[in-house]
Amino acid sequence: MATILSIETSCDETAVAIVNNRNIYSNIVASQIDLHRTYGGVVPEVASRQHLETINLCIEQALSEAALDWEQIDAIAATVAPGLVGALMVGVSAAKTLAILYQKPFLGVHHLEGHIYASYLSEAQLQPPFLCLLVSGGHTSLIYVKDCGVYEMLGTTRDDAAGEAFDKVARQLKLSYPGGPIIDRMAQTGNSQAFALPEGRVSLPTGGYHPYDSSFSGLKTAVLRLVQKLEQENQSLPINDLAASFQDTVARSLTKRTIACALDYGLNTIAVGGGVGANSGLRKHLTAAATEHNLTVYFPPLKLCTDNAAMIGCAAADHFNRGHISPLSLGVQSRLAI
Ligand code: KG4
Ligand code: ZN
Repeated sequence: MATILSIETSCDETAVAIVNNRNIYSNIVASQIDLHRTYGGVVPEVASRQHLETINLCIEQALSEAALDWEQIDAIAATVAPGLVGALMVGVSAAKTLAILYQKPFLGVHHLEGHIYASYLSEAQLQPPFLCLLVSGGHTSLIYVKDCGVYEMLGTTRDDAAGEAFDKVARQLKLSYPGGPIIDRMAQTGNSQAFALPEGRVSLPTGGYHPYDSSFSGLKTAVLRLVQKLEQENQSLPINDLAASFQDTVARSLTKRTIACALDYGLNTIAVGGGVGANSGLRKHLTAAATEHNLTVYFPPLKLCTDNAAMIGCAAADHFNRGHISPLSLGVQSRLAI
């Protein structure tokens, strides 16, 4: 049973956690969202600087909330890829420094593997194989989870990630950043049938459409055209109906692909990860479709869906228990396949 101190700084959350296998002892997340909101999105340089300001405090707080000292920590882990390079470097440098100082093994973790492990934290009985639908600001992935470290990417997005599409459409509707939670809130009182929007599909060279890949840029453009048309006609924007119609289209599209993938690969368990996993439309459609096909679907709580270090620590613990550790020469990477 490994106790891991883990650090996640791949984007705009400075996060430090202490976990023991699937048990969370502390899970500190210092969000930078307020700082980036004024720019309408994450500014890499601002993110790195803020991680530097906050990281030591987060480490101290994680240790103090867990009521542990360094002797009780077995290893130090950090997200090494993918993400903003400057931001990743802050967390990885801190983790390596602690590993040297306290003579602990270091483990570099892939960010997407962390999101997969968030499901293990919330569902203690969950075991592979299962299908992970990972929908965040940077990713839209269908991953066949076969075992620790053994993954097959079955579906992806050809353009925007699901969360990115929410954020961009929110901007078109003149809503604040990040747009996903706001669109979700507005959609509650909107009519999802008010506007017929196109579900993006990815053509195959051999004809037909890719069954698991998504595309959101056409949908985003369709919303933009609709907004421009309504504005030209001097009509006030029916924001709630637009939000509900957009959300419903994304949720149905993701649900269709996820269910098809699970059935084709004979996987009867689906685990959702990433910030868009919090979306009420996706939860509604995916839960209903899973029930219809006799599949089980798990949605981790919001705090584990969005970026956090507990998920990184949980992945690191599983690897550590199998004797895996990383060399201190392991560098950060902005892009890396899982
Ligand atoms: O997983 P996450 O915290 O960070 C990344 O790794 O990207 O995901 C952030 C994304 C943002 O695009 C945000 O708009 C979206 O998740 N998001 C949502 C909801 N809550 C967060 N999208 C739709 N509905 C939500 N309720
Ligand atoms: Zn993430």
